[in-house]
Amino acid sequence: MAEHKIRVAVAGASGYTGGEVIRLLLDHPNVELAFLSAERSAGTPVGAVHPWLRNHPGAAGLKFRPLAELDEVDVAFGCLPTGTLPARLPLLAERAKRVLNLAGDFRLRDPEEIRTHYPKTAAQPAPEEFAYYVPELSGAVPEGRFINLPGCMAVATIYALYPLFADSLVLPGVVVDAKTGSTGGGRGGTEQPAERSGNFRVHKLHGHRHTPEIRQALTELTGAAPELRFSTHSLDVPRGIMVTAYTQLRPETSALDVKRAFAKAYVGKPFVRVRPAPKAPQDFPMLKAVVGSNVAEVAIAVKGDQCVAVTALDNLIKGAAGQAIQAMNLVSGFEETAGLPRTAVSP
Ligand SMILES: NC(=O)c1ccc[n+]([C@@H]2O[C@H](COP(=O)([O-])OP(=O)(O)OC[C@H]3O[C@@H](n4cnc5c(N)ncnc54)[C@H](OP(=O)(O)O)[C@@H]3O)[C@@H](O)[C@H]2O)c1
Repeated sequence: MAEHKIRVAVAGASGYTGGEVIRLLLDHPNVELAFLSAERSAGTPVGAVHPWLRNHPGAAGLKFRPLAELDEVDVAFGCLPTGTLPARLPLLAERAKRVLNLAGDFRLRDPEEIRTHYPKTAAQPAPEEFAYYVPELSGAVPEGRFINLPGCMAVATIYALYPLFADSLVLPGVVVDAKTGSTGGGRGGTEQPAERSGNFRVHKLHGHRHTPEIRQALTELTGAAPELRFSTHSLDVPRGIMVTAYTQLRPETSALDVKRAFAKAYVGKPFVRVRPAPKAPQDFPMLKAVVGSNVAEVAIAVKGDQCVAVTALDNLIKGAAGQAIQAMNLVSGFEETAGLPRTAVSP
């Protein structure tokens, strides 16, 4: 495994995902944090914007700078609001050897879907194609310079459904109910805390842009063509996503087939943990077992021909900063687990 250090930039480092990338990389053995960009917070010390980072000696003296001042780096993490990167990509492409984008800009391939969900990307396509990379499932690491990571609710759904479609165990029709915490909307979110607090409500029942992403990813990864119904709800927690996917088993498929498919898909994958034989509620994936970690917990429950799959993960880590660092580790030849937490923060 590589021992050297690489120079890393974070574009959009004053936001929630950018702050999480900084927090994790401050203790990464192979990384020098070379450049941190912000828009409104440019010129501000990191610890003033992210107080949870101010006591790390590595954060002392670090300030946010305008993106235009970007130095030459090995890797740039794109933590910008969706639609912001396309116009800034020529700059990043010139000064970064590799770009890992957390935003949705370059995830979809269908031009019609891009126009619908990412109009700014449609107007300014990337100079080179972005690889869509799910670290556990995409196989060989991408060779190109540009990598787009999956969306947080999308990747949670992909973990729940991949083994079922990869082994052709379920019928195409699938219903997914996703619930997400408030940081999913970013630091610039306009929702009043009082409206979220003590509440549980619908976010989007139709037309969420993670729907075509999940369909595309499952089709590319498994060859199946899922008929997906995907709805999202807003949880009154700062972090965490729970996804429940309802499927129907094909005739002659047993609970053992399902169990084997999940074991095969995730054996040797340090950050996707299949819960063995869950029975009691606390045996199933839950936010308090994953929040603060880069782990996605997955479980399945089969009754007759009904199969329900559940995933829980931390949207800011396994759904964003952590999975991007995992991708950086893999493409850079570092230990896959370097700098990434496996235990949750609880109670
Ligand atoms: N939040 C999640 O759970 C999550 C999960 C997966 C993927 N993502 C994706 O990751 C991206 C970042 O999300 P986030 O939650 O970290 O967002 P955020 O908290 O709103 O942070 C956005 C960052 O971008 C900067 N910025 C805003 N407008 C800019 C502009 N025009 N030019 C340059 N920089 C600009 C902001 O700087 P100032 O604040 O200083 O202006 C801030 O640093 C989004 O595309 C999101 O879809 C988010």
